Amino acid sequence: MNAEQSLKEIAQEISMCKKCALHYSRKNGVPGEGPSNADVVFIGEGPGFHENVQGRPFVGAAGQFFEELLKTIGMRREDVFITNVVKCRPPGNRDPEEEELQACKGYLDRQLAIIRPKMVVTLGRYSMARYISNAKISHIHGMARRVNGLLVVPFYHPAAALHRPSLRAVLEEDFAKLPELIANTEQVPEYAYEEKNEDQAEQLSMF
Ligand code: URA
Ligand code: SF4
Repeated sequence: MNAEQSLKEIAQEISMCKKCALHYSRKNGVPGEGPSNADVVFIGEGPGFHENVQGRPFVGAAGQFFEELLKTIGMRREDVFITNVVKCRPPGNRDPEEEELQACKGYLDRQLAIIRPKMVVTLGRYSMARYISNAKISHIHGMARRVNGLLVVPFYHPAAALHRPSLRAVLEEDFAKLPELIANTEQVPEYAYEEKNEDQAEQLSMF
């Protein structure tokens, strides 16, 4: 089976999945979309109202802003893989619960194993927590680090900027760093958690 077919199979499984309580209220599972050989995978939180209706990630207001941000660096949503840490909509857009995150984790693990991107960009706290624990997004947003071999760049969630306009410029600045990072992924060394605290991490940032 090739990569594209494997991703389709995962999407099919998600559409029928009952591993957590989120399946009760979903209209459509939202597996994510994009090229099976994408260099960059963006990971959001979970589907919202419109995503649940359409079965596609980031198609509501936050998605529109996300597309605008991509445009500022000459990229289109078709160029990247876009997905979420939970594939079904949490009712009323509440935060996903630990049990749901755990139940859903395997799907994203498998997607990433197939796509093998050069980098993942986490959007918001929940996807950041997949890779980086005990960190404040306000301290480390926009700073690349390598986690178990994978280059991870934590960003604020675009929806956060819709509520807090001051974050708009922050997200724009962080997006502006991406082209150079994508071109130089191999230059970011493995991050040694135990030796460095957050302040040192800021000093170590190359970009
Ligand atoms: N917010 C997310 O985190 N994911 C989506 O797919 C849409 C909005
Ligand atoms: Fe399955 Fe994930 Fe949907 Fe839960 S959120 S039902 S684990 S696909």
